[in-house]
This record gives sequence, C-alpha cells and structure tokens, in this order.
Amino acid sequence: MDAIVAVYSDWGIGDGGTQPVVLHADRAHFRAYTAGAAVIVGRKTMEDFPGGRPLKGRHNIVVTRQNLTIEGAEVARSTDEALFLAAKYDKCYVIGGASVFRQFFPYLDRVEITKIDLAPRSDSFFPDLDADPDWVCAAQGDWQEEDGIRFCFCTYERKDRN
Ligand SMILES: NC(=O)c1ccc[n+]([C@@H]2O[C@H](COP(=O)([O-])OP(=O)(O)OC[C@H]3O[C@@H](n4cnc5c(N)ncnc54)[C@H](OP(=O)(O)O)[C@@H]3O)[C@@H](O)[C@H]2O)c1
Repeated sequence: MDAIVAVYSDWGIGDGGTQPVVLHADRAHFRAYTAGAAVIVGRKTMEDFPGGRPLKGRHNIVVTRQNLTIEGAEVARSTDEALFLAAKYDKCYVIGGASVFRQFFPYLDRVEITKIDLAPRSDSFFPDLDADPDWVCAAQGDWQEEDGIRFCFCTYERKDRN
C-alpha cells in the first residue's frame, strides 16, 4: 500500500489540525496521484478538507471510532476494517493524518513525499524515513520553487521485507 504526504524539513506535517504551509504544486501533485483511487483518511483530516467533506473523484475511506454516516465516503471503525474496504480497489493511498500514517505504516511499501524546505511549527509528524534503515529514497526530482519556497517530489520505498 502507498501513502502520499507533504513534509517540512523536520518531517512535520501539520499544526492545530491543518497544514501551516500549502503549495499549489503539491496540491496538483496530490490530485494527480490520487485521482480515481481509494484514499484512507482520518476523520480529523477529512474535517480540514474544503467544506469538511470527503474528496471528490476518489473512493474515500474515512476512519472514525464514532458511529458516523458520511455522505460520499465509506466509514471504517478500525484499521482492519479500512484495509478490508481498501482491498476491493486497484489502488489505495493512505493520506493521513498523523495517527493514520502511524497505524498504517507497517502496511506501507511506498510513500510519495513532497519535501518542503521550511520548518514551520508542527504538532504532527511523519516518521523520518531518512533515518529509517528499512526505507530508501528511490527517486528524487529536482528542487523547485514556489513563492520563494523550495520543494521537491520524492519516492521512498521500503527495502525488501525479507
Ligand atoms: N502534510 C500532509 O501531507 C498531511 C496530510 C494529512 C494530514 N495532515 C495533518 O495531520 C494532522 C491531523 O492528524 P491527526 O493525527 O490529528 O488526525 P487524523 O489522523 O486525521 O484523524 C484522527 C482520527 O481518525 C480516527 N481514527 C484514527 N485511527 C483510527 C482507527 N484505527 N480506527 C478508527 N478510527 C480511527 C479517529 O476519529 P474519531 O475521533 O472520530 O474516532 C481519530 O480521532 C493535521 O494537522 C493535518 O493537517 C498533513
């Protein structure tokens, strides 16, 4: 299973329930990768989406322990239930937030990472894959700039599990 995430230079991913710095290029990258796919998303991150609604053009699997019905989404009340629901789709991305990345981390084999060369205050973090010997940066694009902020797109892969 894949994940997609934008990380700041300290591997921070958000603060106070939202992303303090968002780049248009990263949003476009996210849309291109996840279009038509299933996405597994935490209830808190979904509430930070436009209108607090599931994403259009994707099969949203929202994880919550609450007894919710969410229009435009399938609801999973556990990690296992989300994995079960995701299995029927050809492609599924784990899209956060922090608690969801943490719980699905053992199932991840590839992570599409936008590295943003800034370190705004964060209270949510993605695991530092540069410090994890089980992971390797398989591809890194050129550093680009948007509004004076440097960023690049990277693909990290888990090394052979054997
Ligand atoms: N930089 C990025 O690419 C990126 C991407 C996504 C999110 N973020 C950031 O991440 C932060 C949010 O992360 P977060 O950890 O606070 O919230 P979250 O992971 O989005 O959502 C947490 C909620 O998901 C539900 N949940 C989690 N694990 C579950 C499980 N195993 N079974 C059932 N329900 C489960 C619970 O909902 P209930 O409370 O309803 O039970 C829990 O309160 C924000 O700052 C956001 O901006 C950053």
